[in-house]
Amino acid sequence: MLMSQFLQSRKTVRSYKTKAIRTEGMIEIRRILDEENEKMRAYGAELLFLEDGEDVVRLLEGKGGYSGVMIESPSYIALNIKEEKEEAYIYGAYYLEDLTTKLYDLNLGSCWVSLGGVPAELKRNIHVEPGSVEYLLAIGYPVAQLGIGEIPFSSRLGVEEIVRDKEGKGLTMDELAQRGLDDLFYYVRFAPSAYNNQPWRFVVEDGRVILLIQDYKDKVTLVDAGIMIYYFEKMLAGTGIVSKFTVHVEDKGADKMIGTIAI
Ligand SMILES: Cc1cc2nc3c(=O)[nH]c(=O)nc-3n(C[C@H](O)[C@H](O)[C@H](O)COP(=O)(O)O)c2cc1C
Repeated sequence: MLMSQFLQSRKTVRSYKTKAIRTEGMIEIRRILDEENEKMRAYGAELLFLEDGEDVVRLLEGKGGYSGVMIESPSYIALNIKEEKEEAYIYGAYYLEDLTTKLYDLNLGSCWVSLGGVPAELKRNIHVEPGSVEYLLAIGYPVAQLGIGEIPFSSRLGVEEIVRDKEGKGLTMDELAQRGLDDLFYYVRFAPSAYNNQPWRFVVEDGRVILLIQDYKDKVTLVDAGIMIYYFEKMLAGTGIVSKFTVHVEDKGADKMIGTIAI
């Protein structure tokens, strides 16, 4: 499936059938995890497959998720931050989101689950050190089939609200079309973010785009940045430009610069 189509149709799934993931699916997930972990090693993050979701729910009920609303699913993937550094959050999210696109091909839905409010001692039951499990991805077969039925709608900011030029003026879809960047920015807005906060802001300069996180307060927005970097690179590749972000995290007043990408 085209990445633009995927972005527009993807939705966080919060209700899963109790049925376990099929054996072929399990095998495929383990294979994908090995691949992702190989790529993540350099960044100090890793993904762990928690096949028995009931164990996880027993442990985290009332504690994991937004305000302790745990998302129940037959299995989970854990994002273990092995080295407490910005890159571990950014690229941990990048590769975990890459996994979500592959799960979609296995007819599996997913939901990021925040573990910020869960005591460290409790999380150590999920995984012993080194590292700390900061997020889970709930995975399973959606109760309502993907793309069919009542799908809750999460709104998105307009392109003009998140993309600006060097002088700080918001760029319209027409102005972006003149640079061949309209589709790219239209679709990347559908990336998921914690609380749907959509903290990403872009500055379009000649030949490059800068990604910023607006009003930086929390590491969770580094995760949002990693997810955005993933979709941005994929969408750009779809236009024939193979380019990667150079991540260089730096405070810019209240904002945080995450990195730049040549376009
Ligand atoms: C880092 C991160 C953490 C999230 N944590 C939770 C969570 O704990 N509980 C939950 O229900 N959804 C969680 N979500 C899902 C977001 O709320 C969801 O992606 C956003 O509201 C947009 O909705 P959509 O994915 O359906 O477009 C999280 C998403 C991200 C990226």
